Amino acid sequence: MNFEGQTALITGAGRGIGKTIALRLAGSGADIVLADISPDVAEVRGEVEALGRKCMTFEVDVTNIETIDAMVKNITDELSGIHILVNNAGITQDNLFLRMKSEQWSKVIDVNLNGVFNVTKAVIRLMVKQRTGKIINISSVVGFTGNPGQVNYSSTKSALVGFTKSLAREVGVRGITVNAVAPGFIDTAMTQALNESQQEVILQQIPLGRMGDAEDIANAVAFLASKEASYITGTILHVNGGMY
Ligand code: NAI
Repeated sequence: MNFEGQTALITGAGRGIGKTIALRLAGSGADIVLADISPDVAEVRGEVEALGRKCMTFEVDVTNIETIDAMVKNITDELSGIHILVNNAGITQDNLFLRMKSEQWSKVIDVNLNGVFNVTKAVIRLMVKQRTGKIINISSVVGFTGNPGQVNYSSTKSALVGFTKSLAREVGVRGITVNAVAPGFIDTAMTQALNESQQEVILQQIPLGRMGDAEDIANAVAFLASKEASYITGTILHVNGGMY
């Protein structure tokens, strides 16, 4: 897979899966734009540049439409376009439904679902003009199985399935593919927050007997972003060690 001459924008790229995706695509030749609400995102820049690629970083909140629009304008002033968009930024605010506050519901919907709308909306006109683009949304296995304590989070992750499939039908004719990756349980800060007994219960459900690595997800994203996957659109690629 070779992404030379292409630019990839990855949200939530300051750490975890997003950062690993950025380094994976840079390693195969893509110039990289890192977007994250956390100032830590600036520290990833050096790692991308060490791979010989151009890199821009933006400290942005995906829920803030104005700053997203300004970021996209800035990117197009500096780089040749945006060829790959990875909507990876996501949060959890877990609680059993009976105790879930409306703020916990709204916040997770706002970042995980409205954030994908905002960034995609800002980028897609450009992709239409380019007549090429690859959009990859990061869903989750719990959007398919459900998970106690995650009514808010799992709702957003199944909503991304409808988003992916509908948008794929709209923009295929314009040379743009839209797919999603649905990770299982991946070893990152998000899952390190689970206690030992929760992690044990999860491991028992995984036929391959281990949590995934961020690289497992980055490899799937790289495939969907590549020309080798150019006849694949509207698809959800499950990367979960066989648990679903
Ligand atoms: P993480 O918590 O390690 O990283 C998420 C990144 O998103 C952070 O750098 C954070 O600052 C950024 N972010 C949060 N809110 C943002 C906002 N409003 N605007 C911009 N950036 C924001 O999480 P991880 O584990 O790397 O997850 C990445 C994606 O993968 C998420 O969408 C998550 O839901 C999904 N996922 C993760 C799984 C796991 O087991 N770790 C399993 C299935 C899906």
